[in-house]
Amino acid sequence: MTIQARWNQFVDKCLSCRACELAESRQNVVVWRGGIKAPLMILGEGPGADEDRLGKPFVGRSGQLLDLLLSSFDLKEKDYHICNIVKCRPPGNRVPTREEAAECRKLLSEQLRLVRPTVYLLMGGTAYKYFTGSDEGITRVRGLWIETNNCFVMPTFHPAYVLRDPRKKSLLWQDFASVRKKLEELSFLPPLRIDAGEI
Ligand code: URA
Repeated sequence: MTIQARWNQFVDKCLSCRACELAESRQNVVVWRGGIKAPLMILGEGPGADEDRLGKPFVGRSGQLLDLLLSSFDLKEKDYHICNIVKCRPPGNRVPTREEAAECRKLLSEQLRLVRPTVYLLMGGTAYKYFTGSDEGITRVRGLWIETNNCFVMPTFHPAYVLRDPRKKSLLWQDFASVRKKLEELSFLPPLRIDAGEI
């Protein structure tokens, strides 16, 4: 079976998932945007109202900041795969419960096996906690690479947090710069060129 066929099958499985009660209130199951095969996986917490309505992750205000970061570091759709810890919107944008995250992890693990990213960017404390199983605060761990099974994991702030506290903006940019550099070191991307015309 081609990767596209396997991917389509996986998406269908997600769309029909009713494993937790988030299925009751969702409008859409939010699976991903970006490349199906991508060296970088970007993980958020869970869909908000805009994502639920449109069926794609990070398409609201946080998504606008994320897109600005991606384009600033010349990251293209084929380079990244964006998804969330849970694929359905928690009502009122509450944090997903441990049980919801655990149910959805089964789909996320399948997703990882299909996408096979080498670099992970975990955005926000919830993504960090549920992805790694660690309870350490995001402020302590952000910006520090975790190396595991030949993969590289970078925890960082969630864009929504940075929008609420713009003093944290430069740290989010720094972490994106580290991710870009790592993708270059691993030969997934050429060195970032700054066009003299832009200076
Ligand atoms: N916040 C998230 O964590 N994920 C989204 O998809 C949108 C906002």
